[in-house]
Formats: sequence, C-alpha cells, structure tokens
Amino acid sequence: TGCFTYDPGFTSTGSCESKITYIDGDNGILLHRGYPIEELAEHSDYMEVCYLLLHGELPNHEQKQKFELTITRHTMVHEQLSNFFRGFRRDAHPMAIMCGVVGALSAFYHDSLDIEDPQQRMIASHRLIAKMPTIAAMAYKYSIGQPFIYPRNDLDYAENFLHMNFAVPCEPYKVDPVIAKAMDRIFILHADHEQNASTSTVRLAGSSGANPFACIAAGIASLWGPAHGGANEAVLEMLQEIGHKDRIPEFVRRAKDKSDSFRLMGFGHRVYKNYDPRAKVMQRTCNEVLQTLGIKDDPLLEIAVELERIALQDEYFVEKKLYPNVDFYSGIILKAIGFPTSMFTVLFALARTVGWISQWKEMIEDPVQKIGRPRQLYTGATMRHYVPLDERG
Ligand code: CMC
Repeated sequence: TGCFTYDPGFTSTGSCESKITYIDGDNGILLHRGYPIEELAEHSDYMEVCYLLLHGELPNHEQKQKFELTITRHTMVHEQLSNFFRGFRRDAHPMAIMCGVVGALSAFYHDSLDIEDPQQRMIASHRLIAKMPTIAAMAYKYSIGQPFIYPRNDLDYAENFLHMNFAVPCEPYKVDPVIAKAMDRIFILHADHEQNASTSTVRLAGSSGANPFACIAAGIASLWGPAHGGANEAVLEMLQEIGHKDRIPEFVRRAKDKSDSFRLMGFGHRVYKNYDPRAKVMQRTCNEVLQTLGIKDDPLLEIAVELERIALQDEYFVEKKLYPNVDFYSGIILKAIGFPTSMFTVLFALARTVGWISQWKEMIEDPVQKIGRPRQLYTGATMRHYVPLDERG
C-alpha cells in the first residue's frame, strides 16, 4: 500500500510551503512576512497587519486607505442572517454559534464560492475579515438578550467591534482609546501562527476545493478545543478555581502528576521551547489595560504572576521547556474590558480569520497544491469473513 512515515500529531511533518509566518521556537521568534511580532504589536495596527498577511507587503498610505474602505464596506451582514441567531438557545456557547453562522455565510454570498477566480477569492477574504466582528458581537448580544448593534463605519476596526459589543440603543457610548488600542493589539497578536491545528484544518478543508466560508467554519471548530484557542477561556477558569496565591503549589503539583489529567492552562507550546514572544507583549498590555481601567491589585493577575513565577522555577516546567503562551494573560485583559469568558475564544477566532484566509489563498494559489490525504497505521483486525447474525455468539 505504499511507504509513508508514521507521525502522530504531525510533530515532524511539513505539510506545505508558506511565505506568510516564520517561527523560530528555540529562540522565541515570530515573524509575519519577515516583520517581528513585537514591532508590529508596538507600531502597526490590525488593518495594516491584515493587509500584510494577505498581500505580502505593508501598505502605503493610499493602499491602506483603500483597504480600510473596502473592509468597512463589507461590515454589514445580510439582514436574514440575524434569524440564524434566533434559532439558537439563549445559553448556547458563542463558539457554537460562530461555527454555524460563519459556515452559513456560504448560503448568502454565492459569488464568493467561485474559488477559481482570484478576484472572488479576494472579495471572500475581505468579507470574512469585515463580517467576523459583526457576527462575533451579534453572538454576544444574543447571549445577553440585548438588541444587535449595527456596525459604525466611522470607527476603526477595534473601536467598531467594542462599540457593537458594549453600546446599547438610546445611550451614548464612547470607546476608550487605550482599550481600543489594547483590543487592536490583541487582534495583532492572534493574527496568524503558521501551521497550528486550526490553520491546518482550514488548509485541509480547502484542499478539496471547499468554499472559503466552510473552510473558516472548520477552522473555528478546530480552534475551539482547550488545547488550542479554547485555552484562553480555560486559563481564566483555572485562575478562578485556584482562587488564592496560597493554593498555587497544590495546582502546580497536580499539573506534574501524570495520574491527574490537569494541566496548567496557558502553559506550553508545540513549537516554542524558549518563550512565546506574544505572551510577553500580552503581559505588558495587561498591565496597561488594568492601569487605564483603574483596576489595582486584580486578584487574578496576582495569581497569574505568582503562578508564572513558581512554575518557571520548577524543575518539571524548566526541563520540559514549558513557558506561558499567548493565552496566559489575554483572558485577564478581556475580562477587564468586560467580555465574559465564553467570548474569549470567539475573539481569538475573529483575529485569526485573516491568518486562516491568507493561508487558504496561498494554498489555492500554490501550483503544487493537492488534496490533503494523510495515511494511517492500521492496527485493526486482519481480514475475516462475514458471519450471519444467527450464528454469532
Ligand atoms: N501543564 C503540565 N504539563 C504539560 C503542559 C502543561 N500545560 N503542557 C505540556 N506538558 C507536559 C506533557 O504532559 C508532556 O509530558 P511527558 O513528556 O512527561 O509526557 C510534555 O509536557 C510534552 O507535552 P505534549 O502534550 O506532548 O506537547 P504538545 O506539543 O503535544 O502540546 C500543548 C502542546 C500546547 C497542547 C500543551 O503544552 C498543552 O496542553 N498546554 C495547555 C493548553 C494551552 O495552553 N494551549 C494553548 C497553546 S498556545 C495557543 C494556541 O495554540 O491556541
């Protein structure tokens, strides 16, 4: 049946060529199209990073303006799409809603289903980047029983997102620029991360020729798991469960105990074996946001800082090279901004959409692209013959 390498979890399998994102896990380096994540997080903005990931270069003034205009033009969703939300139970997890509603976009934008047309591929990319904040905010508003808030195209991407989540009809709402900046930075930090589980899922789904909305819905489903994007929600739940600094040693002990399935959420990474550069920027942003909001001595932040300190001195974590990852501090910021934990992974999905769609486009445009078809090591029964029901023991 042919020869292949058995590689569970694809720890040593390169599945594609890519020019988008580079990671040097041993040295904690993350580059998008060559630019270090720290520089992008500090000096750029999310729209620029979206342009960079999609087009390969940072935009000039004119290109940036045109791109922003294009994205804002697509921020509305078809009015009928709001009926989808009403079909979900009020207490549905917003990620469940995201999987369904984003997949359903394929039922609305038939022109974008023509994946052979480069222009349509770009329009589909713009639609997804523009509509994800609207859909994510609708999922939130639905869960709290408030009316949907329409996008405001005079606001920038992050401001508009905060507006759609936190504005209520008939009441003035002003977005705090420091909070909007932090939101924008969180989006940058999540924009792409080469061939992680959800991106590989998007590529694999797309390799069969599936439409971009269906592929992104597949990516959202993959991201939801606690080992991947669901970790930000799990971190906050873990910090709440720990509850007090005094209980940290007990949880660290449990994380090391192989008979206990508990892991320190927000710790460890398949590729980073030094530190996750996104986590450092996230920690700084966390301090800025809490300061802006006047939150002093946040108990969860205190626990997080102490947990990091204790774990980084512990032989188990040092030996296994387990460091805080991007999800470790993001939840504390999102909670301070006012998002419930159930929205954390939704925000990750929103921000990662540009990475997913850039990778999808790159794959479609790659002449060596083939349908993804991993092999398996069969360990089941050898050939045997059918036994009629009456003769089975
Ligand atoms: N707490 C305790 N032990 C851990 C942890 C942890 N968080 N992470 C890994 N280990 C141990 C693991 O038990 C294993 O030990 P041993 O070699 O004795 O069997 C060793 O470290 C290697 O772990 P692995 O599971 O084989 O490594 P992996 O590359 O397959 O998994 C990971 C990477 C991120 C899934 C894992 O570190 C983990 O489950 N972390 C917690 C969840 C998390 O924070 N996920 C977010 C990842 S970053 C953002 C994203 O991808 O979305």
